[in-house]
This record gives sequence, C-alpha cells and structure tokens, in this order.
Amino acid sequence: MKMTGNTILITGGTSGIGLGLALRLHEAGNKVIVAGRRKELLDEITAEHPGIDALVLDVADPDSIARARETVAASHPGLNVLVNNAGIQLLESVLDPAGLQVAEDHVATNLLGPIRMTYAFLPLLVGKDDAVVLNVTSALAFVPLPITPTYSATKAALHSFSESLRVQLAGADAGVQVIEVVPPPVRTTLMGQQDNEQSMPLDDFLTEALGLLREKPDAKELVVERARFLRDAQANGSYDDVLAMISSS
Ligand SMILES: NC(=O)c1ccc[n+]([C@@H]2O[C@H](COP(=O)([O-])OP(=O)(O)OC[C@H]3O[C@@H](n4cnc5c(N)ncnc54)[C@H](OP(=O)(O)O)[C@@H]3O)[C@@H](O)[C@H]2O)c1
Repeated sequence: MKMTGNTILITGGTSGIGLGLALRLHEAGNKVIVAGRRKELLDEITAEHPGIDALVLDVADPDSIARARETVAASHPGLNVLVNNAGIQLLESVLDPAGLQVAEDHVATNLLGPIRMTYAFLPLLVGKDDAVVLNVTSALAFVPLPITPTYSATKAALHSFSESLRVQLAGADAGVQVIEVVPPPVRTTLMGQQDNEQSMPLDDFLTEALGLLREKPDAKELVVERARFLRDAQANGSYDDVLAMISSS
C-alpha cells in the first residue's frame, strides 16, 4: 500500500483506532472518508479536520451498506482503499441466555460487516491502481480471550476470510492487496480500556503499525511487537500457556 495519494474509506472512523488511522492518513496526504453510526461525532471530525469527509454507516445493516456504496461511488469515484475497522467487543457468558444476543451482534458487526462491505466495495476497487482492502482483526484471532468468546471467534474468522480473499483476488489478477492489521490490547473505549496501563497507548500503536507498513508496503499482516506472543503462540508451541495466561488475567 502506498502511504500517500490514496482515497480511503475507514469504517469505525468515529473513535479509537479508526479515527487515529484517519487522522494520520489524512496528515500523510490521503483523501479520507470516515464512516460510523454516530453522526454527531462525524460532524465534529469534519469540522475540526477540513478535508476529511464523513459518511453515516451501520455495517450491521445491509441497506446502510448499499446506500454507502452508492454515495461513495458518486462522491469519491477514485476510492482505492477500504479499511474494515468497525467493531464491538462485549463480555459474553455462555451460561447466560442473554449471551446469545451478544454473540449474534458480534457476528453481525465484526464478521458479516466486513464481509458485506468487501462484497459491496470490491467492484469499486478492482481495476484501480494501488487498490487495498485492509482488515482490522485482533491478536485474539490467534488465541481467544474466553470472556469474549464470540468476539474472538469473529476475529479468527475475519483472519481466515482475509487469507482466502487475498488468494482469490491474486488468482483473478484483480490487483487488490489484502492487508490484515493485528492489534494487541490498545487504549480505546472498545471495552473501556482507554486508561488501562496494560494496554498499548493508541499513538504508540499507530506509529508502530504505520511504520511497519511504510517499511513493507507489500505486507500481508501488520503485527506490532506487543501482539507477537499471541500471533505466534500456535507456531512456537506456547499456545496452551498463553491461553491459560490470558484466561486468568
Ligand atoms: N482497542 C483494542 O484493544 C483492540 C485490539 C484488537 C483489535 N481491535 C479492533 O480495532 C477495531 C477498532 O476498535 P477500537 O479499539 O478503535 O474501538 P472503538 O474506539 O470502540 O471504535 C469502534 C468503532 O467501530 C464503530 N462501530 C461499531 N459498531 C459499528 C457499526 N455497526 N457500524 C459502523 N461502525 C460501527 C464505532 O463507531 P460508531 O459507534 O460511531 O458506529 C467506532 O468508531 C475493532 O475492530 C476492534 O475489534 C481493537
């Protein structure tokens, strides 16, 4: 992925990692469109950062995605990068009947959301120079956090989907790069960890992740150092120990 001169749509651009990426990429000379459900935050962002555009989008709603595709096709025909970043993470107990709704919400937002977005926006990307789909998964795709079982499962599934997407697009010579971002715990409001000393400061995460992309523009995965022990647990034989450790933390 080139670092400047792109037209980039970022889902979940109203806060946290998505907003951080939006501001960094805007500063680096890209046209950025932030998307999310909270219109008041979108209005604040566009007022504070002239040049950034905004779009109301609920990735759990297929009609909202279809409307967003029509809007972006008309307003930003040069779109060449889709960042599937929107996500939710909530505690879920499998012994509580209410957990099922939590599970279904995670699948709708974190898994069906990026899959539907990919189907909707790929026709706008194929054939463009430097086209990219960038999926934000999680280090928990590789070792689950058992207090958020369906969250972890959706991220493992999005990792798997990203792998197949990359191979299918390469096989079809579609010219679309697929990049997976694998964050460790980062200080955002996702699960109320914005002040948690154990989580990585957002600015440090953005600097390291974008630095990796700058160093390796053809990267398949962006894995910052703090996510490595989870990403590599299966391969290096530490999976059981790591699962036990994060289960008790
Ligand atoms: N922070 C971490 O520790 C961490 C670690 C690993 C992976 N991640 C991943 O990073 C991504 C961003 O999370 P974050 O940490 O930046 O959390 P965040 O600050 O809570 O941001 C989540 C974003 O997703 C948007 N969103 C949620 N549901 C949506 C929906 N149905 N439609 C459209 N947008 C929706 C929210 O915007 P609206 O509410 O305005 O719609 C918000 O902008 C997520 O995919 C998360 O799983 C985060």
